Amino acid sequence: MNNKTACGRFITVEGTEGVGKSSNIAFIQAALHQAGIEVITTREPGGTQLGEEIRELLLDHRYSGMNADAELLLMFAARAEHIAQVILPALNKGQWVLCDRFTDATYAYQGGGRGIPFERIATLEQWVQGALRPDYTVLLDLPVEIGLARAGERSAADRFEKEQQIFFEQVRNAYLAQAQKAPERYRIIDASRPLAAVQQQLGSELQAILKEQGR
Ligand code: TMP
Repeated sequence: MNNKTACGRFITVEGTEGVGKSSNIAFIQAALHQAGIEVITTREPGGTQLGEEIRELLLDHRYSGMNADAELLLMFAARAEHIAQVILPALNKGQWVLCDRFTDATYAYQGGGRGIPFERIATLEQWVQGALRPDYTVLLDLPVEIGLARAGERSAADRFEKEQQIFFEQVRNAYLAQAQKAPERYRIIDASRPLAAVQQQLGSELQAILKEQGR
């Protein structure tokens, strides 16, 4: 547990486009409720009024040529607000926080995808988060072409979804490399399988997490 002053647990869900984050987050939320855990579900970029406005800027095609550092700093601006207004207050009250993406997405997209050095991201992470790190990160992994096809069927592409396949290959590789570096925190789920199989694995991982947490 990394959150020294907090008593809730912090779970994040990550993956490239079209991996099925929404349905699996709903599944995790329901499982935690069933275990009697009070959980707040939120997302990044977003999760606060300011954060959601920053999100709109980040996803807007009008800024298709946005400078990569500006993009990185906007992610952390939204995150600073989110941590102060939502995440830390909840953890400090003993609630669990389930977050759709967090800083691992910054390493994957701005680091892996845009090529910003990881050390620069680490500096911002330390500054904005202090000791706050997720306790568990679920990585929904699947081949990029399958995810992009699924995402394409669902809705109009936002500014990130307009990127080429190679960008998402780099994002996926960065996620997998991070997961390898922190196996105690990451739970990698093969999201290319039918939803029932994905949720069966997710269910067992959650049981193990709950057991580890004495729940
Ligand atoms: P979402 O649509 O999956 O909620 O996320 C919006 C987009 O923002 C998604 O394409 C990934 C991107 N993103 C980053 O590039 N860096 C980050 O730090 C976060 C949180 C999201």
